[in-house]
Amino acid sequence: MSTSVVRTKADLARALKGRGAVSLVPTMGALHDGHSRLLEHATGYGDIAVASIFVNPTQFAPGEDFADYPRDFDADVERCEQADIAVVFAPDVHQMYPGGTGVTVDPGPLGAVLEGASRPTHFGGVLTVVSKLFGLVQPDYALFGEKDFQQLTLIRHMVRELCMPVEVVGCPIVRESDGL
Ligand code: PAF
Repeated sequence: MSTSVVRTKADLARALKGRGAVSLVPTMGALHDGHSRLLEHATGYGDIAVASIFVNPTQFAPGEDFADYPRDFDADVERCEQADIAVVFAPDVHQMYPGGTGVTVDPGPLGAVLEGASRPTHFGGVLTVVSKLFGLVQPDYALFGEKDFQQLTLIRHMVRELCMPVEVVGCPIVRESDGL
């Protein structure tokens, strides 16, 4: 199938008009085999599978690697195509944060332990962007890797606490032959 790439909220709405049930795989790009498995899995949920590619600045603290985060958009779209993803949503920062970063999602105490202990602003940024993506795509299913287990737990918690009408699906870790 050929994958449509849309970059604005208006084009996303057009691409999803008349949609059936939607599955969403949020990503920051630099897709690898683990992502491909997630993307393939997503096509088994609902009628139309969407992947988002957005390197989210608010989950990087000053001094972390936002500027150097790997970006290879063409290769990412090719992986999406191979996995039969119908729509890639690849917004810029103005689409996602039109009013700056004033309104955010607070992950609560679970966001302050484990990885959150050394990255105190990270999970607030993750939940904020995921909630925006949920608002824009309005997925029936959203798929995340179990590799980022704290992230997955916090997203499930947010969905429950903020009464978001989406089913969160966790996908098993994919390992290289050496166990990585
Ligand atoms: O796991 C990731 O790649 C990111 O944290 C996510 C969920 C796409 C939010 O930017």
